[in-house]
Amino acid sequence: MAHIDPDSPVPKYFQLREILLDLIDSDELSIGAAIPSERELCQRFGLSRMTVRQAVDHLVSEGRLHRVPGKGTFVARPKIELALQLTSFTDDMRARGMIPGSRDLDRRIVRASAHLAKELGIQPGEEVHFIERLRTADGEPLSIERAHIPVKFAPDLASHDLSDKSLYGLLESRYGLVMDAGELTIDGGIADPSDADLLKLPRGGAVLLLQRRSFSGGACAELGVSTYRADRYQLRTILEMPA
Ligand code: GLP
Repeated sequence: MAHIDPDSPVPKYFQLREILLDLIDSDELSIGAAIPSERELCQRFGLSRMTVRQAVDHLVSEGRLHRVPGKGTFVARPKIELALQLTSFTDDMRARGMIPGSRDLDRRIVRASAHLAKELGIQPGEEVHFIERLRTADGEPLSIERAHIPVKFAPDLASHDLSDKSLYGLLESRYGLVMDAGELTIDGGIADPSDADLLKLPRGGAVLLLQRRSFSGGACAELGVSTYRADRYQLRTILEMPA
């Protein structure tokens, strides 16, 4: 059985974290299973309560474990690994064998502010579609997407139903608009109360904010801000040495 090495330079809490991760990876602790209590872990590994708590706290903040007040600490579901690519939500979820869903929260045509105009490369005051949607996979809410699309690229978009549909699919089939390049910024944040409710997050729950400018033939066709549940998403990209 794995044990803590008191002579190792690796801190004890980190050793325990590794042991717990091994138990999770080998399915000895399967998804949804309760991990042993702090007292049991202290006894089994000869550790202080503080050290055990530190290891468990780390795994909770990494999203590998989750605490249910009054009940215990459980193995969390693995997060969805989002590759940083220019895909649509629909294509991404279908590729995982999940059923994508979409519910309109707000749709309107607005006049571009100076800031929005700059982001989209259009004139202030030009008309822009604002599309706010709750995105789900297999019925579970995962993100809120707020897209701005200049009306000139998709003149009658407002009259099209987008419930459970792909915006990119419609832009392509109806307007011949295919995104071919993008620029992404990523921020960490706290969901505001109404987003937290929609995403079924606790108040103050963490989110990942992905802001993307998507281009078609050199023109910015969409400014999209997606608010993803940080407890369900992990971002992944391939790194290469700069040339
Ligand atoms: C991604 C992008 C959004 C875009 C959406 C379109 O999630 N981050 O900016 O609006 O895809 O997805 P769909 O075609 O499924 O509506």
